Amino acid sequence: MKTFEMRTAIHFGENSLERLREIPYKRILIITDPYVVQSKMIDMITAPLQKAGKEFDLFFDVVPDAPVDKIASGVRKFLAYQPDCVVAVGGGSAIDSSKAIREFALKINNYGKVGLIAIPTTSGTGSEVTSFAVVNDTAAHIKYPLISDSLTADEAILDAELVRSVPPAVTADTGMDVFTHALESYVSAAHNEFSSALAEKAIEICGVFLLRAYLDGNDMHARQKMHVASCLAGLSFNTAGLGITHSMAHQLGAVFHVPHGRANAMLLAHVVEFNSNINKHSRSQKEYLPAVKRYSNIAHVLGLSNFNKVMTVRSLVNWIQFMQKEMNIPLTIQEMGTIPPDAYFAAIDKMADAALADSCTANNPRVPTKEDIVKIYTKLWSF
Ligand SMILES: [Fe+2]
Repeated sequence: MKTFEMRTAIHFGENSLERLREIPYKRILIITDPYVVQSKMIDMITAPLQKAGKEFDLFFDVVPDAPVDKIASGVRKFLAYQPDCVVAVGGGSAIDSSKAIREFALKINNYGKVGLIAIPTTSGTGSEVTSFAVVNDTAAHIKYPLISDSLTADEAILDAELVRSVPPAVTADTGMDVFTHALESYVSAAHNEFSSALAEKAIEICGVFLLRAYLDGNDMHARQKMHVASCLAGLSFNTAGLGITHSMAHQLGAVFHVPHGRANAMLLAHVVEFNSNINKHSRSQKEYLPAVKRYSNIAHVLGLSNFNKVMTVRSLVNWIQFMQKEMNIPLTIQEMGTIPPDAYFAAIDKMADAALADSCTANNPRVPTKEDIVKIYTKLWSF
């Protein structure tokens, strides 16, 4: 038996922040990062709360990667204030921190139901609708994935005004993260009809609107579409999982601090080639690997097709690389110019072990060996 469940009510479109005037809560703890406060973006959240006469307090100590000491400070703030709702405002780290803070605080003192409303300020992680959060023990260099339905937000508000000021490089990286979530969940070994429908729509939107949002951040139609695509892709991978693009990107992030979306964008074309085996497919082989059909479906969604399935998957690889070039995302680690070759090649063995052990690897459509992963990391240096 399979189950598909959507636990989060999603408010989207113009003026969706007005929802904050109607929420059935009175005492709200807003959890966010210092940038949201300094940039005054926070006023867009507090104004409707004030108009509706809600009480609120602010915890704005969230930093990237949700380190456990900041989560502990947030738990102390939560227990002292005793809110009936948490409003999480920010990127993946703010939303993941909020999920963990509510979860841990209620384990210490469960004084009743506390709502969680997630308001993303980037179009990337999909964390507003997933049952995952990643917290980071920085002293031990360990990232702990938390997975529980109780982490899922009750409501998500997708208002593109909050992403209007996102700079082009971040729009590119987070947009390619959305595309990777959708593509990996579409070809995942755990895909199903519901996850596939959500992923296809997210991919169609990326195909039309990602470049537009990158080229003109004030194109609010494109911004809103990408904000919705991020959420659709989040709903898809929440049930179908991801694959080795993410497993390998996690290591590039942990060891060399390559931004998450950028690492995915750089790895994705290589992983499509590996999963479909298109470089080694010979005309005498009648059977394709299962991922070939799935990738070629996606190529069609993007308006790409060629005279056979293998060539169609090749078109998809070319499209991914075209997007990288158009949005100034390096194709290779060497092109980034920030990682010395010795350090990179010395790290490959350990990164390959960690990528194989990563929880995303289990759903990859083709089972990789360590050598396969090492080959992809090696190729990524300069291809
Ligand atoms: Fe991601």
